Amino acid sequence: MIPDKVPKEDVFYGAEEMRRTAHVPTFDKYKDMYMQSIEDPDKFWGDMAKDFFWKSKHTGRFLDYNFDVTKGEIFTKCMAGASTNICYNVLDRNVHERKLGDKVAFHWEGNEPGDESTVTYRELLHHVCRFANVLKSQGVRKGERVAIYMPMVVELVVAMLACARIGAVHSIVFAGFSAESLSDRIMDSQCTLLVTADGFYRGDKLINLKILADEALQKCRDKGFPLHRCIVLKHLSKEAQETSLSCPPAKRSCPDLQDRETSRVKKSRPVPQVPWNPEVDRCWHALVAAASDECEPEWCESEDPLFILYTSGSTGKPKGVLHTLSGYMLYTAATFKLVFDHQPDDVYWCTADIGWITGHSYITYGPLANGATSVLFEGLPTYPDVSRMWQIVDKYRVSKFYTAPTAIRLLMKYGNEPVQKYKRDSLKVLGTVGEPINPEAWHWYFSVVGDSRCPIVDTFWQTETGGHVLTPLPAATPMKPGSATFPFFGVVPAILNESGEELEGPSEGYLVFKQPWPGVMRTVYGNHGRFQSTYFKKFPGYYVTGDGCRRDKDGYYWITGRIDDMLNVSGHLLSTAEVESALVEHEAVAEAAVVGRPHPVKGESLYCFVTLGDGRTFNRTLEAQLRKQVREKIGAIATPDYIQDAPGLPKTRSGKIMRRVLRKIARGEKDLGDISTLADSSVVEQLFLNRCQPAL
Ligand code: WTA
Repeated sequence: MIPDKVPKEDVFYGAEEMRRTAHVPTFDKYKDMYMQSIEDPDKFWGDMAKDFFWKSKHTGRFLDYNFDVTKGEIFTKCMAGASTNICYNVLDRNVHERKLGDKVAFHWEGNEPGDESTVTYRELLHHVCRFANVLKSQGVRKGERVAIYMPMVVELVVAMLACARIGAVHSIVFAGFSAESLSDRIMDSQCTLLVTADGFYRGDKLINLKILADEALQKCRDKGFPLHRCIVLKHLSKEAQETSLSCPPAKRSCPDLQDRETSRVKKSRPVPQVPWNPEVDRCWHALVAAASDECEPEWCESEDPLFILYTSGSTGKPKGVLHTLSGYMLYTAATFKLVFDHQPDDVYWCTADIGWITGHSYITYGPLANGATSVLFEGLPTYPDVSRMWQIVDKYRVSKFYTAPTAIRLLMKYGNEPVQKYKRDSLKVLGTVGEPINPEAWHWYFSVVGDSRCPIVDTFWQTETGGHVLTPLPAATPMKPGSATFPFFGVVPAILNESGEELEGPSEGYLVFKQPWPGVMRTVYGNHGRFQSTYFKKFPGYYVTGDGCRRDKDGYYWITGRIDDMLNVSGHLLSTAEVESALVEHEAVAEAAVVGRPHPVKGESLYCFVTLGDGRTFNRTLEAQLRKQVREKIGAIATPDYIQDAPGLPKTRSGKIMRRVLRKIARGEKDLGDISTLADSSVVEQLFLNRCQPAL
């Protein structure tokens, strides 16, 4: 399955010197390790597990599973019966056993240049213990779900690890999601407490997070799900805190927190108004100041839940992807170490938000499990200017850098000068994630950002997979621009045709996996049936990714994009059904259909066709209302780029919308293929005439 030989031509390598110290220095070594990982997974992962602390050993098989719905319930278990604690492993073990207490865990870099702080492993452990005690004092028990809705601050990591320490299950909701999305997620996972913050700035824009959180809690109450506890972090400036929050100022109440009197809120900026409901709201700082910094970890079983993270579902309702403790810990630690070839003196920076899986696995758990030093960045790549990323790389001497193709394409537009103004000589490995990277962006990343010296790890994976599943290893794998290359250890990919037959050699079809790896998701929270039908029903015996894939003559895998009703906008998956239902909730809209249209920076953009109800007219006001409606229902990431008035939609005689045809219309492609099943072809001509033109 892994080719014996890799091609010598048309492939790229990073600098030769990496091989001297790399964990996996050659392709042959990768192949040997890969074969071991498949032939004897228990030994392979068992060796990895030796680095961690286990309160008691596992009792059954190391990795036990059923991936075939025809043989019974789908399950994966890793190290069942063992007891451990992931917070202990990523913090206490590093401080006490590995003597890394004084090592920097995070360099926090705020939205505003100059707003910064550092936290060591020892300090992080103290903060986490305190907050774990706070959670306990608020009545949170093992197994309970805690919703977290916070900006990119160290306290977000503190909150998640505090949950893990006491065996509570965190359910983080990206701070760019709307109040409605937050309330849906709180109710779906029946959270008993919410942790949030007053607000934050993204570039020049103030996000009043607490107001959104309050709206979400109101929506929960309206639907009969009252949540009585909300802990609020004061993240904005001290002046703002004192005037607007009825809780003690941070500095006096919490001596341990970093001094936050820097330029968080610029003088000219408005002071946010933060509402406060004394019956529900609790001040983070006051609670923490009163808490002890000693907290014995709760010893949990390997298959106890660690977190829930929602991802778009093709039916429109987001799925609560559930990950469990030991397998996820092993897998994120191993992938982080090997895919970024982690070395003790590295400074690593992943630009993702912790609200997404990339942040969970490769800002929090994977790097901390390895005792890594990371940059935690609150801001934007373009604020205050388009050099910000490279300025930060030089400032902290970042050696391993991980970002998304959409960010690369965005920065590429501004040319080489903003990059070349900075030295970037500390960089060693560059990573990408979130969507296929187009070769043009790949070459720019490789030659301009990395000065043709740094290998690029194009990591393919999903919220569901927990960690990287197809990826190069930086010193070992010859790279082809745009290919995620080969499977990580323990992962067995296959390509299936429509009838479910495995294709050999060069081929294209559905990307599936034949067996689990430790970090694969265990279920959809509260709905095991949906888990089985989404991922295992179409092709019994396989985990179905939902992505298309091509294998070339050299055995390299190339992801071709989603083959379900999912769109990938700036690396974020959105379900067309979810956007459609947000649109039809507007009283003027009778029917809506959403498709993707290629976009030079975002990858895909949202193109919406709306059919209005009788007597309604399409105009700019309605268009603006519809955009607002989608933002409020889902969040800014789902804002439609194009909304077209569609007096009729192309449908089959049985009434099914022909999205294939709509996709062509959105792209302006006249060749519609076979449209003989179309009930009324005049609809199509009409839609072509009214097409939205590309934005300037
Ligand atoms: C896409 C993000 C091509 C893919 C970690 C997948 C990619 C979805 C890549 C998961 C890549 C992610 N090359 N496509 N390197 N990485 N994808 O759950 O369609 O937010 O199914 O997880 O992103 O998105 P999710």
